[in-house]
Amino acid sequence: MHRRKVIVNGQSRALAACAPYTSALDWLREQGLTGAKEGCAEGECGACSVMLARPGIDAPTEWTAINSCLVPASSLSGQEVVTAEGLGTPSALHPVQREMAVRGGSQCGYCTPGFVCSMAAEYYRPGRADFDLEAIGGNLCRCTGYRPIKDAALALEQPAADDVLAGRTQEPPPELAGDLAAVLAAVAEGAVVVAGSTDLGVEINLRGARPERTVAVDQVPELREFEVTGDRVLLGAALSLTEIERRLAGRVPLLDEVFPLFASRLIRNGATIGGNLGTASPIGDLPPALLALDATVVLVSRAGEREVPLSDYFTGYRETVLRPGELIKSVHLPLPLAGTVAFHKISKRRLDDISSVAVAVALDIDGGVGGVVRRARVGLGGVAATPIRALATEAALVDQRWNDETVARAAEVLAGEGTPMDDHRASAAYRSAMLGTSLRRLLGRAQ
Ligand SMILES: Cc1cc2nc3c(=O)[nH]c(=O)nc-3n(C[C@H](O)[C@H](O)[C@H](O)COP(=O)(O)OP(=O)(O)OC[C@H]3O[C@@H](n4cnc5c(N)ncnc54)[C@H](O)[C@@H]3O)c2cc1C
Ligand code: FES
Ligand code: FES
Repeated sequence: MHRRKVIVNGQSRALAACAPYTSALDWLREQGLTGAKEGCAEGECGACSVMLARPGIDAPTEWTAINSCLVPASSLSGQEVVTAEGLGTPSALHPVQREMAVRGGSQCGYCTPGFVCSMAAEYYRPGRADFDLEAIGGNLCRCTGYRPIKDAALALEQPAADDVLAGRTQEPPPELAGDLAAVLAAVAEGAVVVAGSTDLGVEINLRGARPERTVAVDQVPELREFEVTGDRVLLGAALSLTEIERRLAGRVPLLDEVFPLFASRLIRNGATIGGNLGTASPIGDLPPALLALDATVVLVSRAGEREVPLSDYFTGYRETVLRPGELIKSVHLPLPLAGTVAFHKISKRRLDDISSVAVAVALDIDGGVGGVVRRARVGLGGVAATPIRALATEAALVDQRWNDETVARAAEVLAGEGTPMDDHRASAAYRSAMLGTSLRRLLGRAQ
């Protein structure tokens, strides 16, 4: 299935004989391309950032920055990669490199090639007017300070008319190499599914996971479908969060509240919706929101497809209804959406952190404040072995007038939902207290 070739900085290279757990970063560095660095090996620092040519949304192809420490080298097969070495040379710096140099954006330089790749991906974003600083939200620098880096980013103009990488965005992307039948056959034989590898990469790098066989799904067209019809939104499991955010373009406001709080742009460029459900983590950010949206998941194996409500999908701590040989094909959101929605994630840091508790609310209210709640969905993360729906809280809201008393009563009920645990992120008591506070805050804001 793999074409076993990758184009790096315009040159074709063979990808022969890589173990499934060899990272793209290690492979690139073994090729002598030592610009990309390993800082943390867990997606937190961006020193390993490189650009991939991906199917575009606003142009045929878009340069997308990803964490090369997390993705397996084998997933580069058939892809086009640009590293800092491919952007410019010491005598002919790329505009991003030049701005970083002249504005003092680099001191020890360890983080610089990663910053430069994340910045270059944004520099080439089709239709960019201003530089979106979120593009470098997944890059850390421990010695320069961020102001000169920000100055360099904000000083960037548009690419020159003859810029080769800008020209590349107008050409078709590398052909999708995935084949669903072959993927399902591999999964039936026990291969571990890899999508964006932002979870699996951490398992490999930090926890010693050594999957004997993996199968990449990020290029399977059937898993990358996106469709909005009169009665549903269909999100292919292998779409990245960035792709979903941009393709939805505000059509699912509850998800728009989740995206900015989910890791960093660099991670969201790789992380898929299928991977977030595949890990079945009780503290994943999408499940509470998807539960509130009444999502269903379509599962596929060689035996065919079946559709399961997300509320039935999680069966225990990191356990799901997925059978051997089965994977997630897509996620469906029924339309119309509830009119009043809110998402609250409580974490130790405001941005780029895993949640301690997450609450998502979707309500249909007749006539706004003072009207009657006709339908309520409340999804919770971090308060049980699985993401759950807060059924008692939903019942406390339905058929009630939308006012402060209802909010106060429902908040009390919510504080008692789930079976929160003590762990290094938060105590059980804190989690319970936060649930109640969260609802008051969310419902207060929605009024
Ligand atoms: C620095 C960092 C920050 C993070 N921050 C957040 C955060 O804020 N919120 C959050 O929720 N998560 C966070 N994560 C976790 C991770 O990014 C998400 O869980 C992400 O959605 C995983 O998607 P992926 O495509 O990378 O999955 P992968 O790592 O490729 O796969 C994860 C698991 O799902 C399985 N899988 C993948 N695709 C499928 C499929 N289609 N069907 C069945 N199984 C499948 C894989 O076999 C694997 O077991 C963070 C991770 C990192 C490294
Ligand atoms: S090495 Fe830190 S994000 Fe990859
Ligand atoms: S310049 Fe030293 S870490 Fe950024």
